[in-house]
Amino acid sequence: MSKLNNLISEGAGKINPVSVEEYVGLGGYTALKKAVGMTPEAVIEEVKKAKLRGRGGAAFPAGEKWAHLLRSPGTPNKYIVCNADEGEPGTFKDKLILGQLPHKLLEGITIAGFVFKAKAGYIYVRGEYRKIQKLILKAIENAKAAGYLGSNILKTGFDFDIHVISGAGAYVCGENSALLNSTEGKVGRPRIKPPRLADVGLFLQPTLVNNVESLASIPAIVNKGGDEFLKIGHPDGGGTKLICLSGHAAKKGVFEIPLGKVTLKDAIYDPEMGGGIAGGRKLKFFHLGGQSGPIGGPAQLDTVYSYDDLKKAGLAVGSGAIVVMDETVSILDYLKSITEFFIHESCGKCIPCREGNKQLYKLLQKLSAPGGADAEDLNTLRRLIRTMTDASFCGLGQSAAVALNTAWKHFKAEFEANVKPSAARAA
Ligand SMILES: Cc1cc2nc3c(=O)[nH]c(=O)nc-3n(C[C@H](O)[C@H](O)[C@H](O)COP(=O)(O)O)c2cc1C
Ligand code: SF4
Repeated sequence: MSKLNNLISEGAGKINPVSVEEYVGLGGYTALKKAVGMTPEAVIEEVKKAKLRGRGGAAFPAGEKWAHLLRSPGTPNKYIVCNADEGEPGTFKDKLILGQLPHKLLEGITIAGFVFKAKAGYIYVRGEYRKIQKLILKAIENAKAAGYLGSNILKTGFDFDIHVISGAGAYVCGENSALLNSTEGKVGRPRIKPPRLADVGLFLQPTLVNNVESLASIPAIVNKGGDEFLKIGHPDGGGTKLICLSGHAAKKGVFEIPLGKVTLKDAIYDPEMGGGIAGGRKLKFFHLGGQSGPIGGPAQLDTVYSYDDLKKAGLAVGSGAIVVMDETVSILDYLKSITEFFIHESCGKCIPCREGNKQLYKLLQKLSAPGGADAEDLNTLRRLIRTMTDASFCGLGQSAAVALNTAWKHFKAEFEANVKPSAARAA
């Protein structure tokens, strides 16, 4: 029996993405019709019951975020912002929704607009998805013509428009407050929080920022009800998750799995998903949730893919990325390439991240050269990781060393292979 699910991805690649009629043929826009007959509190209650966790990486409960925004006084307006920056390496699942099922996203955003009596929503789309941006604009035009968006939606007197903003090409612009700054035309650097964005967000107004996949899950929650959505997944987080397999997986791509019902081994080895390791080689490690996520080893393959189970195993869902690496890969080389990414993407606002990543790279280089590092370098590495994690201003710097920290547990011998005894110890 197939372990896959198509709660979110149904119709992807099978319908003309911009066509309202074809989306309606799949049952599209029925959730919006239902939601406009419900109270905002009732819609939020379903989102809470569904235990929808944010699919952008932080896994924050969406129902809680929505309830907070509803309580926040709207002066004069609340905004809905969809995070479609998708800058996390190894992550390409929002692209599937944006490019193949844009109406599902528009429906989710419009339901949120209705709940919060917002006048406008914004989709901040990764700059590299240029063609997709055009496609979304066409889908918006068609939704307006069909009465699902724009003025007097479904003849209810509700007016709501959606704008597309092109991303600025920086990874940090995916961080929700940097994304709002960038949307406002400012430099895309993170803001201090609190205040929470649900209180002071876009143009200083209360704002909902949710990921593409989170918002695309809303129609299913409204249609099925929160309880049913929860049952599809795991008791700590309902529904399905789009996972992205890449690297040395025999089959690369996006797969939709029910949360809590599939193991990491299934994801990597099931013929319908990763199909094992390319070339029949052995798995060395897998990297979950993007560059800022944890690295796991073969001994953890039986871990169930749910927020709870992965957390207990020291792993995480994150964005849904699963980068698979075979036995030929050097862990130190892999970590160096990640650190180079963070050096490049650090916005430079705070020292622990801006300088810390450069120092991490230098230490990794020393550890890579025979006799290049001593035991004191390993202590410095540990102190540096702690400082970056505790003192960086935003999630980028705070999580830049997660991969390194988790890899350490599995590959201690590789880290220590080139370490010579320190002068102090040798003496
Ligand atoms: C450096 C950095 C980059 C991020 N990039 C993205 C991104 O590309 N897409 C995304 O949805 N969330 C990204 N996030 C997470 C967002 O800050 C935020 O948690 C998310 O948009 C909230 O939506 P959700 O609750 O629906 O997941 C990023 C966070 C950090 C710290
Ligand atoms: S941690 Fe600091 S330097 Fe790094 S991206 Fe965030 S604000 Fe910028």
